[in-house]
Amino acid sequence: MIKGVSEVLGDIYSPLLLIVLALILIHFGFPLTYYYYLKSRWLNKPWGIKRDLSYKPKVSIIIPTYNEVNLIESKLNDLVRQDYPRDLVEVIVVDSASTDGTSEKVREWVRRNPELKLVLIEESVRRGKVYALNNALRYVSGDIVVITDADAIWSSSNTLSNAISWFNDPIVGAVTCLKVPANEGLMSVEEGYREFYNVVRLAESKKYSTPIFHGELAVFRRNLLESIGGFPTDIGADDSYTATKIALMGYRAIAVDNALCVERIPRREYHMWRIRRAQHLIQHFIKALRYVHKAPKEFRYILLIEAYLHLINPWLFPTSLATLLYGVMKGITLTVVLLVLGLLLLLYKPFRTWIATQLYLAIATVRNLWTKEIAWRKQEKGYGLSILISF
Ligand code: GDD
Ligand code: MN
Repeated sequence: MIKGVSEVLGDIYSPLLLIVLALILIHFGFPLTYYYYLKSRWLNKPWGIKRDLSYKPKVSIIIPTYNEVNLIESKLNDLVRQDYPRDLVEVIVVDSASTDGTSEKVREWVRRNPELKLVLIEESVRRGKVYALNNALRYVSGDIVVITDADAIWSSSNTLSNAISWFNDPIVGAVTCLKVPANEGLMSVEEGYREFYNVVRLAESKKYSTPIFHGELAVFRRNLLESIGGFPTDIGADDSYTATKIALMGYRAIAVDNALCVERIPRREYHMWRIRRAQHLIQHFIKALRYVHKAPKEFRYILLIEAYLHLINPWLFPTSLATLLYGVMKGITLTVVLLVLGLLLLLYKPFRTWIATQLYLAIATVRNLWTKEIAWRKQEKGYGLSILISF
């Protein structure tokens, strides 16, 4: 039966439709408002930080490895190419009982490159990256500690110097890179996400600090790391949580635009990879919220908003979808129109990317109920270097 126009318009007053519209409005409106606010108000503001490229403290670079035989060599070569003075750098590779010969590969590399000071720690049992990092901390002697994943590529030879230059200002406690994806297939989805994401990271950093850090390049003042007791072992997000703790102490924890990292994306198990990382971020925000009352004012809002965006906002989307489907079943014409509009929007890449991210977060929340993924399943990353561009 075809409904008359007035009947269809009458649907507007259906409480169900109003609920769907409200949920959709909040779900999309809140993050978009935050994004545009940050972009227009903060993105182009000066940093208010006294950066100095000639500031060269002693740096300890920690690389945690678990079955990285295919990537560790190029990672170490990448480090040697950095223009930071060699005598001010020490590298600590902490391997957790890899079964693919990673530590042999490291030893072999050291024999060929004796000029770089490198310590290899071999753990006999794998407990997870966070435990390995804490283990490595006991060996560091530098004033600044750099964490970098074996599968991370720094975009240029001055990435390290650029990242360190911010520590010239005593207010800076932690620095991370902006992430640029590399790799086949899912690249376009990742790209859309990163654009939005990097604007938010950078603008939050300019305003005060960002509560999301990247293990591809996460730099900390050693004394601050020590004062917070190292990395947390009950959650997986070592990088973000540690940076947040430092921001809570009144130091700036920033993502900077003069240090870019290229992130390799797994060739298989992409969804599992995204879900696990989402799980770790959720664990981080739940734990960090306990301290929000202690946060410096500028950071309090950033932390609350990001926690909302990761913990609550994702749920509004599946809830509105379920309500919408119920409306369709009930024969409310305008819900059908909304559903069709939503499906058409899926043709628009940024929309797809957003929806995917929300679903990963929702699934991750549920998955956190039975596993924390502290020692996670390794996903194989692409090795081809030809896709890399220099920035
Ligand atoms: N020593 C040690 N022990 N290293 C480990 C272990 C472990 O049990 N598990 C993983 N690693 C190492 C990997 O070899 C790699 O160098 C680095 O930790 C990151 O692991 P990936 O498997 O590449 O993780 P990812 O890139 O997907 O994870 C991202 O999110 C994590 C939190 O979910 C990165 O940003 C990580 O830095 C972050 O911790
Ligand atoms: Mn990685």
